[in-house]
Amino acid sequence: MPSTLPLGDPAPDDGRFPDDVAHRVRAAAEAGRPRTFSLYVHVPFCTVRCGYCDFNTYSAEDLGPGASRSSYADTVSGELEFAAQALTASDVPPRTLETVFFGGGTPTLLPASDLVSILDRARELFGVTPGAEITTEANPDSVTADSLRELAHGGFTRVSFGMQSAVPHVLATLERTHRQENVPAAVGWAREAGLEVSLDLIYGTPGESLADWQSTVEAAVALEPDHISAYSLIVEDGTKFGAAVKRGSVADVDPDDQADKYLLAERLLSEAGYRWYEISNWARDPEGTGAHRARHNMAYWRDQDWWGAGPGAHSHLAGVRFWNAKHPAAYAQRLATGVSPSVGREEPDAEARFLERVMLGVRLAEGLEISALEESAPDGGAHAKREIAAMIAEGLLDGRAAVTGRVVPTLQGRLLDDAIVRRLAGF
Ligand SMILES: C[S@@+](CC[C@H](N)C(=O)[O-])C[C@H]1O[C@@H](n2cnc3c(N)ncnc32)[C@H](O)[C@@H]1O
Ligand code: SF4
Repeated sequence: MPSTLPLGDPAPDDGRFPDDVAHRVRAAAEAGRPRTFSLYVHVPFCTVRCGYCDFNTYSAEDLGPGASRSSYADTVSGELEFAAQALTASDVPPRTLETVFFGGGTPTLLPASDLVSILDRARELFGVTPGAEITTEANPDSVTADSLRELAHGGFTRVSFGMQSAVPHVLATLERTHRQENVPAAVGWAREAGLEVSLDLIYGTPGESLADWQSTVEAAVALEPDHISAYSLIVEDGTKFGAAVKRGSVADVDPDDQADKYLLAERLLSEAGYRWYEISNWARDPEGTGAHRARHNMAYWRDQDWWGAGPGAHSHLAGVRFWNAKHPAAYAQRLATGVSPSVGREEPDAEARFLERVMLGVRLAEGLEISALEESAPDGGAHAKREIAAMIAEGLLDGRAAVTGRVVPTLQGRLLDDAIVRRLAGF
């Protein structure tokens, strides 16, 4: 969740939705393609801010008055109550939660009992579908065997650790608080508690060699997680890292080096039995069932519905997008006075929806349906279909997938997905 909010229109104080939302949710269910419903809970606290990170998160020092970690579970539960009322008042049919994701920041800086109490409140208000995926992100040094056991006991099914690297000098450049030794311990406790495990890795940090990256991927694989995300380091404006790169005191990331590291990750991960299902995500999948894919993220990428609770969190309901006040104090203040925490709202037009669909679809191994391009492109998909043929010839798109009606990038195409999007969208 990037920390800058879009402009959009003001959202109403009572949180009511236009009638179209209820109609679209009902129509999708009646057509046998129900829109799934998920919950994202943002927890905007970190012990220290890593120099590269642009997420909406605050250390105790920069939080200031008006918001506190100790009152956070109650504040977010207040938003969940507000959400349930606004949905009912807008006549949106009730739906149980298919996935819940606590992200940050560092959710596990809150006591496990606080995370469980937020989840309990969500369960009371919306219901949780049996077998739902319930994840929390965690820094490897922010959990104990007891806290993970308590989370599992409270209904969590999965934990996603920010491992980032196995190499001490890379962890130091990234300003991580954890040490490599924290990761195997945390993964072991999570397994003992019965939780599925995902590991986040970052590649392309200045000073990281190809051998460093290889040892990071190998160390991650050796822990046998169910899922691995590997992100290229993005230098964000407004971060400490971004400023250091501008000053020239830290080298900028090198796209060729990042491409080499992506190819190495793909080779090592596929040899170890992981399959890519989104450009930055691989799941352990020896039988090809997709069982360990992150279902919460799949719901985002498949354009389903979710409520995002917490400061700066974004939500999407049947074509309407809305987002909350960014600072934790402003967010808490709105809820305390009975006003919607949401400060902006927009309903993207057909062109914006088409672009979004293309951007998300071409990142997925399941790809984008060519019929969706035909339905949503302004010219009925004629331009996109010419580009698809050209990109198959250039080796960027998979010709066999196209025969079955889908646009799927090849390995080469995964390295150039921005170009694929631009060409399909015609700009
Ligand atoms: C919001 S963080 C939350 C996880 C947890 N706080 C941690 O850092 O361990 C989610 C993931 O985003 C990734 N991330 C954050 N900033 C990034 C950046 N500038 N470039 C690439 N990946 C980034 C990191 O891999 C991180 O694990
Ligand atoms: S701990 Fe995670 S959320 Fe916090 S600043 Fe670092 S990467 Fe960002």
